[in-house]
Amino acid sequence: MSTDNPQSKMIVTDRGGPFILSDEEQRAIEQAMHHYEDARAATIDALKIVQKNRRWVSDAAIEAIAAVLGIAAAEVDGVATFYNRIYRKPVGRHVILVCDSIGCHLSGYEQVYARIQELLGIQPGQTTPDDRFTVLPVVCLGACDRAPVLLIDEDTHFQVTPENVAAVLEQYA
Ligand code: FES
Repeated sequence: MSTDNPQSKMIVTDRGGPFILSDEEQRAIEQAMHHYEDARAATIDALKIVQKNRRWVSDAAIEAIAAVLGIAAAEVDGVATFYNRIYRKPVGRHVILVCDSIGCHLSGYEQVYARIQELLGIQPGQTTPDDRFTVLPVVCLGACDRAPVLLIDEDTHFQVTPENVAAVLEQYA
């Protein structure tokens, strides 16, 4: 799809005000579309492109992505909702995903989770006032034999304990 397509530069608004994809985002999404016969298949790539630049994907961003892909916003929203690492609300600079599935549950994730909340002074789903961390629960991260497990941004941390979790968090400014 060409960048000349008037629909593909649609400006939409939501509570965050006017929204328009940057030229770089637009190009990257169009490039991703070239890899697939059906533009729908590029939806997750497009969501990741926008999230990489903006940390999260607003309703207006969903509409803008849908316009570029030439599909309904509801379809894009459906994909975004399905992937638990696409954030539909603002998040901090670093996102801590705490596995709360059975393997981690049995290995003491609750104490680790409580310690994180104590250290950061926030509840699950909240962001620290300095915008440094957002804490969210997540389903099994596929490393149950090394539970409890945290995913911070792209880094997986294994066998985290209430005692060592502060040192883990210190790695993220
Ligand atoms: S249960 Fe936590 S990684 Fe599988």
